[in-house]
Amino acid sequence: IKCVGILTSGGDAPGMNAAIRAVTRAAIYNGFEVKGIYRGYKGLITGEITPFKTQNVSNIIQLGGTILKTARCQEFKTPEGRKVAYDTLVKEGIDALVVIGGDGTLTGARIFATEYNYPIVGLPGTIDNDLYGTDTTIGYDTALNTIMDAVDKIRDTATSHERLFFIEVMGRDAGFLALNGAIATGAEAAIIPEISTEVDQLEELIKNGFRKSKNSSIVLVAESPITGGAMHLAERVQKEYPQYDVRVTILGHIQRGGSPTAHDRILASRMGSAAIDALLEDQRNVMIGIRNNEIEYIPFNKAIKNDKPIDRELLNTLRKLSI
Ligand code: F6P
Repeated sequence: IKCVGILTSGGDAPGMNAAIRAVTRAAIYNGFEVKGIYRGYKGLITGEITPFKTQNVSNIIQLGGTILKTARCQEFKTPEGRKVAYDTLVKEGIDALVVIGGDGTLTGARIFATEYNYPIVGLPGTIDNDLYGTDTTIGYDTALNTIMDAVDKIRDTATSHERLFFIEVMGRDAGFLALNGAIATGAEAAIIPEISTEVDQLEELIKNGFRKSKNSSIVLVAESPITGGAMHLAERVQKEYPQYDVRVTILGHIQRGGSPTAHDRILASRMGSAAIDALLEDQRNVMIGIRNNEIEYIPFNKAIKNDKPIDRELLNTLRKLSI
């Protein structure tokens, strides 16, 4: 391997820039050339590619978003699109890729790597924390802190007006942001797709909230067709319990922005550096994970196919502390 290409794909996540910086610097440190590929897999089809020197990644560790831009590329899902991508890689002399993204990004990487026997290492970059084989993903901690700040503010007004708030957070099909967000903000409950909650169970939890603080209650709801989302849940609860003054806040894309936390910067730096170590060790088709503070190489099909389990201990903690 002489030249390594880097791209970010799918939903952006705070810490992606720190990861781009780490991959670039670790690659150059080890004598590789580096090329930055713009707009995810799309850049491999349009040929938007630039050589990266150490200066290209100066002053970016603190920035949210991704300097390489990102996209969800439909063409790369077709064999014809992947053929164009492969030809671009050959033309550009890029002989290994580091891709940073979530489930969709790693799925694309797995298919391409197998089809063309091409070395790819993945970094888990998503606020959802839904990749198996790593304790946390790049961006998750920052999103969690953004949720915490927002919910703390909503609590002020919820208390003043004696209201019940349903706050919807992201996570796609996973409840990590909702569950840990609820623990961090002292919310009464988290409604997550992994665990079913009936409206009457919810009533119990809400009553607890009102009894405890006398005047307000906060429930975090994970976006998902399974939970139905905050709006749907609020309507059901309001209909059955008209005594509550119910409001809904959907936090939305605010959760994807902002300067990465120290945790995400360090995680991205360690993982970025480990991606180059993996290539030096002839590893391919693996995602870099960190479990129990140890770097691990997780085969793509394990990282994306396995449902990452919700920690029961966290659920019990929330339940105990919201009485
Ligand atoms: O995967 C990250 C994520 O923010 C999910 O939590 C959310 O469901 C999705 O992306 C939103 O995607 P988009 O920004 O394309 O609307």
